[in-house]
Amino acid sequence: MRSALLYLVALFALTPSNLAQAQSAAPLATTPPMGWNSWNWFATTVTDKDIRQAADLMISSGMRDAGYVYLNIDDTWEGQRDAQGVLHTNDKFPDMKALADYVHGKGLKLGIYSSPGNKTCAGFEGSLGHEQQDADLYASWGIDYLKYDLCGFRSYMNQLAPSDKLKQNELMRAAYEKMHKAILKTGRPMVFSLCQYGFDSVWQWAPEVGGNSWRTTGDINPTFDRISLIGREQAGLAKFSGPGHWNDPDMLEVGNGKLTQDENRTHMGMWAMLASPLLAGNNLSKLTPEVTSILTNRDVIAIDQDALGKQADRIYAEGPVEIWSRPLSNGDVALAVFNFGEDETFLRGISLHLDQAGAAHGWKAHDVWSGRNLGKIDNDYKFSLPRHASLLLRLSR
Ligand code: GLA
Repeated sequence: MRSALLYLVALFALTPSNLAQAQSAAPLATTPPMGWNSWNWFATTVTDKDIRQAADLMISSGMRDAGYVYLNIDDTWEGQRDAQGVLHTNDKFPDMKALADYVHGKGLKLGIYSSPGNKTCAGFEGSLGHEQQDADLYASWGIDYLKYDLCGFRSYMNQLAPSDKLKQNELMRAAYEKMHKAILKTGRPMVFSLCQYGFDSVWQWAPEVGGNSWRTTGDINPTFDRISLIGREQAGLAKFSGPGHWNDPDMLEVGNGKLTQDENRTHMGMWAMLASPLLAGNNLSKLTPEVTSILTNRDVIAIDQDALGKQADRIYAEGPVEIWSRPLSNGDVALAVFNFGEDETFLRGISLHLDQAGAAHGWKAHDVWSGRNLGKIDNDYKFSLPRHASLLLRLSR
């Protein structure tokens, strides 16, 4: 409600010419954004060619048709500003407009990256003092998504006395709001993704500054320790998330590093339970059938993308075992049991806690990872979970 009001207020701040365009635009990110981002695999090496290839591979792998539509260029595309302050791309990206046309021609959307500071995390040109100019530039290229990464702005904030945390935080919020207004003024719909690692309980104020999603944590990496730590830390954040504004526990590492099949599934399933943006970050040219099947599993995606947009809560935790559940729009319930522990085969009778999940004895269960219908289920359902594995069920009356 509050974000709808803010949207209206922002609309009235627009000029008549772009007002009509913005008004006609459908609301953004009504379900968590899905796509692929260059950082987790390519980091600083990403080029125009890699992005074009990623576009092709998203189609041939079936990822686009499974819902992954945003193709996001992360940091290191930026060149220098000219005498008028207009930012140019660097040699790796010779023609961003042509690249956007290519990506759009494939039925995908193009995302880009900047920072409210004068420098990005990788030390490239940021948007400080050039917010409107940059937003206009993105719009002229046909950009559909902006990841806005605090980074260089931290040194700007640190010019204030460290004791003045309040002022520092105000400055940070204002910087995000400024870019959001600049985007609105372009009249081009762009998903606005805040990246400031969860500082200042960002989930409490991000929707007010136009955030469609906000990172809740520091950077992910392709180890199960990091992934499970981030996932478990999301407990309690469900109430801040919903259609148009999502908690973002960072991009997917599915298929990266040395993650096992069980670890990839646990990662994917947990992010789906969390109604997280699903931004794959793997090497698309080396997709294995296992990784493709995890990323494109229709049942896990349906949980993530459920129209109700209710993020899961943790309903049970004992040692390495946790149960999370979320209600779904058709009255079903998604329930996940995670074994974050190291035991090779974890086998014991833990109750499924169906009541706490909003389900009940006798509901039917569909096992997302095996694809099997399990029939009627009760709290005593016996199953075994190997190390780092999880059970993901869709329960219906
Ligand atoms: C930060 C972000 C990452 C990535 C890099 C790019 O670390 O959190 O997701 O965008 O910057 O430099």
